[in-house]
Order: sequence, then C-alpha cells, then structure tokens
Amino acid sequence: MNSRLKIPFGTLSITQRSKNLVQEVLESGRVSCGKYVGEFEEKFASLTGTKEAVAVSSGTDADALALAVLYDFGAKRVDEVIVPALSFVATGNSVLQAGFRPVFVDIRKDTLNIDPEKIEEAITGKTKAIMPVHLMGKPADMDAINKIAKKYSLYVIEDAAEAHGAKYKGKNVGTLGHMAAYSLYLAHIITSIEGGIVTTDDSNFAEILRSLRSHGRACKCKKCVLNISSSYCPKRFQYGEGIDVRFVFERIGFSCKMNEIEAAVGLGSLEIYEEILKKRKNNFDNMSKKFKRFNQYLASIEEETYEKIGPHAFPIILKENAKFTRDQFVDFLERNGIETRSLFSSMPTQCAGFEFLGYKLGEFPNAEYIEKNGLHIGVHQDINEEHINYFIEVVEDFLDRIT
Ligand SMILES: Cc1ncc(COP(=O)(O)O)c(C=O)c1O
Repeated sequence: MNSRLKIPFGTLSITQRSKNLVQEVLESGRVSCGKYVGEFEEKFASLTGTKEAVAVSSGTDADALALAVLYDFGAKRVDEVIVPALSFVATGNSVLQAGFRPVFVDIRKDTLNIDPEKIEEAITGKTKAIMPVHLMGKPADMDAINKIAKKYSLYVIEDAAEAHGAKYKGKNVGTLGHMAAYSLYLAHIITSIEGGIVTTDDSNFAEILRSLRSHGRACKCKKCVLNISSSYCPKRFQYGEGIDVRFVFERIGFSCKMNEIEAAVGLGSLEIYEEILKKRKNNFDNMSKKFKRFNQYLASIEEETYEKIGPHAFPIILKENAKFTRDQFVDFLERNGIETRSLFSSMPTQCAGFEFLGYKLGEFPNAEYIEKNGLHIGVHQDINEEHINYFIEVVEDFLDRIT
C-alpha cells in the first residue's frame, strides 16, 4: 500500500484566463457587478440550457433569492416551503432568510433525497413551494415532485448547489422546476471561489432576481448600461424628474451581487468545465464500481439508467449491520491521508438553530441515521486511478482489521 498518498477532500483549479481577467478587472477600476458578470451569466445559462441566469454572492443567496421571487406572485411572509430534512444547512437557512417557514420532510436512505411519498402529508394551506435538493449530485425524483407541485399549484425550486452536470431523464438538472440555485463555492465543479447563480426560463423571474440581489431596486435591466460603462441610461429618470430608478425600491431586497473578480474566475472555470466534469465523473464511476465489493457493510448512491449523477463527491453510508462506527472508520481514513466530511445532519432535529421550530428528535429517522452513519470524500480533478486504488486498499485494510 502506498501510504505516502494523500486524498484531499477538495481542490481548486484557477486557469490562466481567470488570472488574466482578474488582472484586467483590477486595472480597469470597474470591479463591482458589470460586464464580466453579464458574460458569465450568459455562458452559464447556455451551459444549463436555460434562458436566464442571475449571478449572486453564494449558493445560499441563490436559494434565498429564488424563494423571495415568490413574494411577487402572492406569497406571504408566513408561508411555508417544503425541504428535505437532510441537506447542507444552507438549504434550511435560506428558507428562513427569505422570510418563509421551512417544513421538513424525511429523505430516502438509498437516494439521500427527499422522499416524495412523504411530501403530500406536509402540505398545508400555507405551502407555496417545494425545494428539493439534488444531494451529492444525485437527481431528486423530479417527476413525482413536479406531479405533486402541479396538483397543489406549488412552485418548484431546485437546490442544485451540488449538482453541476447532473441529468434526469435526458434533461439537465436545473431545468426541471421554475428556478434552480447553484453554488459556485470552490468545492464545486464550476467555481467563482465564492458565488452562486439562479437559472430560469422565465424572464420575469430573472428581472425580479436582478432587483432582489441589489436591495430590491427598480434598476434591473439584463445589461445595465450604468454598470458596464458610464453611458447615458434612458430609463434612469423614467419615474419622473429627479427620481432616480436606482433609488426606487420595489421590494424588500438583499445585497448579494456577484463582483467582477468572481465573474473573471468563473469565466475561466467555465472553459475547463467539460474537462473537469469528465475527470470527476470517471473518478466517481470508478470509485462506485470498486466500492461495491464492500457492500456487506458499506453503501453509496446508485446511478439509475435514466439519470447521470453530478460528480460532486463520493458519499458513503454505513449499513445497519456494520460492526464498527462511522467515527472509527473516519479516523482510520484520516490517519491514512484520506480526508473526509460528514454527510450533513437532519436540519430540524440535529441542528440547534432550528430548535425553535419545535421538531423532536426521532421525527426524521432516515436523515438522523445519515448524520450518525454518513460521510463523503472527494472525487475531484486532482484524484486519479492510483488514488482510487489506494482508497480501496485502505478500506479493505480497515475491514480486515475490524471484522
Ligand atoms: C445543498 C446545498 N445547498 C446550498 C449550499 C450553499 O452554497 P454556498 O456555500 O455557496 O452558500 C450548499 C453548499 O455547498 C449545498 O451543498
């Protein structure tokens, strides 16, 4: 066994193009949201196959803004949004940040995603939306979710933070609901270091998103001439003499624009997207295939024939008959240079911040099980076959010693 190998959880690829653009941006003096953000949005939209994309400061902001759009369509601040109990905590946080109440539904242990069979019982007269998460890049059961949403006239907002490159029944994840929110944080397949982006086919939603990211102001053109140059803007005083559109606030907003430096990094990242996606998918597929030999005690997610998993990371779940604990397993991996992360928690019952909602431990048995028995490791572009073989040997060694 090559004990000198290390498998870091994540990596960051910054291209020469990104570096050149960052330099250009800094020298131009125009660093706040401008032409590169616009260019990044256009390219991201064409990559996902949506008409519009609106870039913001983080994936959490992307989730929150997509939800806040619903106030323009009759939602009230007391309304509810259905989310899976298991996700990175940002999913639940964003619902509260948008001013809604999260209503949690347990997940399925085999998919790690919201259990569609439990959604209907969580719907009340106040439910406005369902926000499924494609956790670990595994597409949620969108046909079942969209069917329920249609029946109850609910909006569907995909939390696609971890699902770059995922496909569901021939369609790109991120095109399956009314809007989708991606994270561009550095652990993700497309990155602007920090950042997020909302995709949608509805240009009305996109206008509102542009207003929301900038304090709710009325200035929300797709190509803001004021942001790109100091050209004259014919709409600037459209509300009457002396009333500047930039200081007319149409809705309660956020302050979360993407800046030009982040967009410059993002544009470089888009250029290597296909290459990174391919490498990560090969790693994911290779790891999945080799990992099956441990299926007496350990499981992962499976790719169905109608889907493509977005290779965000490789999740591992201890089976109930495992003769060891997750922490023993994690400790062994970490001591052998394999970095791990936990597989998140049941937000309503295992994250203190949500206690005020009144849920009780035991209400989300599958999500709670994953918190105690789940972990994930990297499949990123700097991992190769040698690393994967090493990982498999380490797991084999662990199981030989403990069982
Ligand atoms: C499922 C999910 N939703 C939302 C987010 C929030 O993204 P960010 O960290 O960019 O705010 C993340 C972060 O990785 C995530 O995993």
